Amino acid sequence: MIAAKAQEASTRVDAPRVITTERLVLEPLELTHARSLTRFARLWEVARFTANIPHPYPPGCADNFAKQSVEQRRSGGGWVFAVHYDEDVIGVVDITLSPDRRNGELGYAFAPWAWGHGFATEAARALINFGFGTLRLDVIEAFAMVENPASCRVLAKAGMRRIGEQMLPAPARGNDILCEAYRIFWTERLA
Ligand SMILES: CC(C)(COP(=O)(O)OP(=O)(O)OC[C@H]1O[C@@H](n2cnc3c(N)ncnc32)[C@H](O)[C@@H]1OP(=O)(O)O)[C@@H](O)C(=O)NCCC(=O)NCCS
Repeated sequence: MIAAKAQEASTRVDAPRVITTERLVLEPLELTHARSLTRFARLWEVARFTANIPHPYPPGCADNFAKQSVEQRRSGGGWVFAVHYDEDVIGVVDITLSPDRRNGELGYAFAPWAWGHGFATEAARALINFGFGTLRLDVIEAFAMVENPASCRVLAKAGMRRIGEQMLPAPARGNDILCEAYRIFWTERLA
């Protein structure tokens, strides 16, 4: 309970939905972030583990992604945030909502030069708080490739429970990949 409260205190959500954590600022993704996003999304070591980044990364891909994210946010379908550390955009983190707005799916990708500092875990925790505290979701799920232990570890550190395995598309590979499925209910967040 004390841990949950401490985590909540470190995450603040202000209009227009900028989230601040101890070290990071999460800004709703806009077209202005596209260039920074391209710097790491175009890299194979990033794209290979994601469910939505193609490789090679076509020109204009980040612009289109940013435009779609703005539309998605306006329609209430989900939120994508650019993760800032010291003025730099070091990653993206997102939550996509089910049509009934009760469930969310968490995703993220970070620049290789920012790996290993706990940033993904910090951002994932903030999005889980945002999902339950602001969006009032019942449950949040996430998927990480079996061959991506760093991401599985992020989800576990963020408080999610492994619930099984599932084949999911990996566009950068051009085929489906075995993923581990993780889940957290809003009641577990309060535990
Ligand atoms: C996965 C990713 C988000 C992790 O980002 P990060 O900021 O380095 O993550 P964190 O530092 O918060 O935590 C990483 C954890 O994984 C652990 N880890 C790293 N490589 C590992 C490996 N090969 N095997 C096991 N654990 C590993 C780290 O030690 C750390 O755990 P610890 O704090 O207990 O030591 C980042 O590598 C990334 O963006 N990869 C490319 C895209 C991607 O995989 N997206 C996720 C799609 S589901």
